[in-house]
Amino acid sequence: MFMIRMDELNIYNKRVLIRVDFNVPMKQGKILSDTRILASLPTIKLALQKNAQVIIMSHLGRPCEGVYDDKFSLLPIVEYLKNKLIKYKIKLVKDYLGGIILNQGEIIVLENVRFNHGESKNDEVLARKYAALCDIFVMDAFGIAHRSHASTCGIARFADVSCIGGLFSNELNILSEVMKTPKRPLVVIVGGSKISTKFDLLNTLSKIADYVIVGGGIANTFLAIENKVGRSLYEPNFIGLAKQLLSKYNIQVPIDLRISTEYSENSVDIIKNRTDILGNEFILDFGDKTIQSLVLILKKANTILWNGPLGVYEFPNFRRGTEIIAHTIANSHAFSVAGGGDTLAAIDLFGIKDSISYISTGGGAFLQFIESQSLPIISIMKRHVK
Ligand code: 3PG
Repeated sequence: MFMIRMDELNIYNKRVLIRVDFNVPMKQGKILSDTRILASLPTIKLALQKNAQVIIMSHLGRPCEGVYDDKFSLLPIVEYLKNKLIKYKIKLVKDYLGGIILNQGEIIVLENVRFNHGESKNDEVLARKYAALCDIFVMDAFGIAHRSHASTCGIARFADVSCIGGLFSNELNILSEVMKTPKRPLVVIVGGSKISTKFDLLNTLSKIADYVIVGGGIANTFLAIENKVGRSLYEPNFIGLAKQLLSKYNIQVPIDLRISTEYSENSVDIIKNRTDILGNEFILDFGDKTIQSLVLILKKANTILWNGPLGVYEFPNFRRGTEIIAHTIANSHAFSVAGGGDTLAAIDLFGIKDSISYISTGGGAFLQFIESQSLPIISIMKRHVK
């Protein structure tokens, strides 16, 4: 997979724009998991050591595109970075599309790219404006690499030089190696709330895996084939696909669930069979019978790939499924790979970071790369080699 790497280039005194994925889980402005930020630091530090003029760009959350919203500002992340890069002055710049002034010894962080109209549509005019800000574009945001956005694929096409950073290159190398000849049984766990992105990947992932464990909104969509799911998160448009997948592959659909009539931190949990969910109820976690049967599957596994929490682990009464599965993975002899924003936050919460064989910064990107060994940005980067 030949692509230029930043460490091969002479970047002295060049304006180097590094696209990172600082899309970290936050609660009331507090960062819940800094794994993605920490993983981005080596590339930023290397650029600084080589005396490049460093500009950083990222998205955060899913704000309404084209509209500034304090809630999605990168300010808390800039404050965090100040403690990690204490020798440097770090400035958050809101208006940058017309150009920026970069002073010696200063790092500029561009405000959330999702405030810019045209970002997710990969608008060419916007991408050219980003490209005009730098001499060299560095793609190091593995977490967003499954999307063709203006700040990823767009800028990569129009920048004078485009290359990949150390984080991106490591992710590709390690994930390709894992998937060359995975030791079997291979168990894939796909949970979380981003249903549509992940459903599209389930087709191929189910072919590769010996067992697929589904959680969160994806599990609810499978449940909805035959059962009521009340007010739970699910995707009616994917029920047809779920049915097809279930008839062909070894997909583990929960048999019992923890539910509540309220979606709140203090909700009390009740365990019900999957056939008994009522119209006013929310499915918020797995029940104990389901958890036990999944633990048995995971104990047999030799490779485990995990993306997405299984329930609403942020609520204490609904974290049991995610917590027990997380500890089972951590104690397993299998080679385990886990990734994705919420998965990383769950891993931090349960204190099992050091027991996972490899932690990927990608969620959807990690699944897509495993599924196809490719990502939209890769072909652009390959073409960009001049
Ligand atoms: C992620 O957290 O998976 C990436 O940052 C992508 O975020 P998105 O799903 O909002 O595009």
